[in-house]
Amino acid sequence: MRLLVTGGAGFIGANFVHTTVREHPEDTVTVLDAVTYAGSRESLAPVENNIRLVQGDINDAELVSCLVAEADAVVHFAAETHVDNALADPAPFLQANVIGTFTILEAVRRHGVRLHHVSTDEVYGDLALDDPQRFTESTPYNPSSPYSSTKAASDMLVRAWVRSYDVCATISNCSNNYGPYQHVEKFIPRQITNVLTGRRPKLYGKGANVRDWVHVEDHNDAVRRILTSGQAGRTYLIGAEGERDNLSVLQTLLQLMGQDPDDFDYVVDRAGHDLRYAIDPTSLCDELGWAPKHTDFTEGLRATIDWYRDNEPWWGPLKAAVETRYQQWGR
Ligand SMILES: NC(=O)c1ccc[n+]([C@@H]2O[C@H](COP(=O)([O-])OP(=O)(O)OC[C@H]3O[C@@H](n4cnc5c(N)ncnc54)[C@H](O)[C@@H]3O)[C@@H](O)[C@H]2O)c1
Repeated sequence: MRLLVTGGAGFIGANFVHTTVREHPEDTVTVLDAVTYAGSRESLAPVENNIRLVQGDINDAELVSCLVAEADAVVHFAAETHVDNALADPAPFLQANVIGTFTILEAVRRHGVRLHHVSTDEVYGDLALDDPQRFTESTPYNPSSPYSSTKAASDMLVRAWVRSYDVCATISNCSNNYGPYQHVEKFIPRQITNVLTGRRPKLYGKGANVRDWVHVEDHNDAVRRILTSGQAGRTYLIGAEGERDNLSVLQTLLQLMGQDPDDFDYVVDRAGHDLRYAIDPTSLCDELGWAPKHTDFTEGLRATIDWYRDNEPWWGPLKAAVETRYQQWGR
């Protein structure tokens, strides 16, 4: 396959590119990425001789059209992704997530190219802690944040382009990812690198918010299966039965790093903070034979800590600016 991977210099996209190069050497991979603050050429350094990296914006319709015309399939990861940034300034999220996805859709429509659109479980809003229901493909959309509402809008565009123009597209809505190459602004890498740099870890609110953690390699394995065997027009939910509240994730990290599990600061909560996400992945498992391989969350965290310990040159230059921004927000 000739793959065009948007956002391939970001966390999940870079991991997807690494796996594709390793496991599918028959594929050719072109990455289209604007290399914003969230993207990094270094994340692709291990595979730089095996891929083509085009630095450009998914809103550049001419560039997108040229690259899509050369591809058999587009895997669309590119987005603005940090909820706190969206709360501070939503405009870039509208541009990248909504208009950017529209630009990709118009190109795949023009050239008749297969699209897989990568989205989030946050489009479904949140659940009560004791709600027995989990998110499924038929859960109504109910996004809470400027981030999740722009992702919901992008999903709606994809659905409409499938229905109105017969675009051959699938959508996946995945829960929270963890693993190597995740930006230090995000919850797990922030806490790890706080400890590694002698800063105190920070916990929003009471730490009661529950996320359904999935390892980035398991997410990408599901994306590959959907791309090759998924049914056009379908939405698949990706989750690994990994519900954990933020307090227990932080305390596990602290224990694994040889720290006192109570040695952190509670900070002011995020506005509109979703309480709980939970995915029912039954149809993905039953229909496409997917199962997560990283089923031991503590082991996954231990390996992630080791990765950040061993890769300080990758994240070190980003750390101070991220913490300055959090300080301005009081978090
Ligand atoms: N991280 C998660 O836990 C998670 C969970 C579910 C779904 N997702 C979705 O997966 C996708 C990837 O998430 P991530 O965590 O890897 O994000 P990320 O922020 O780490 O990476 C995003 C990448 O997109 C690029 N980008 C942003 N705007 C662009 C533009 N206009 N043109 C070209 N490139 C642009 C950035 O440079 C960056 O490399 C997103 O669509 C996100 O909504 C993420």
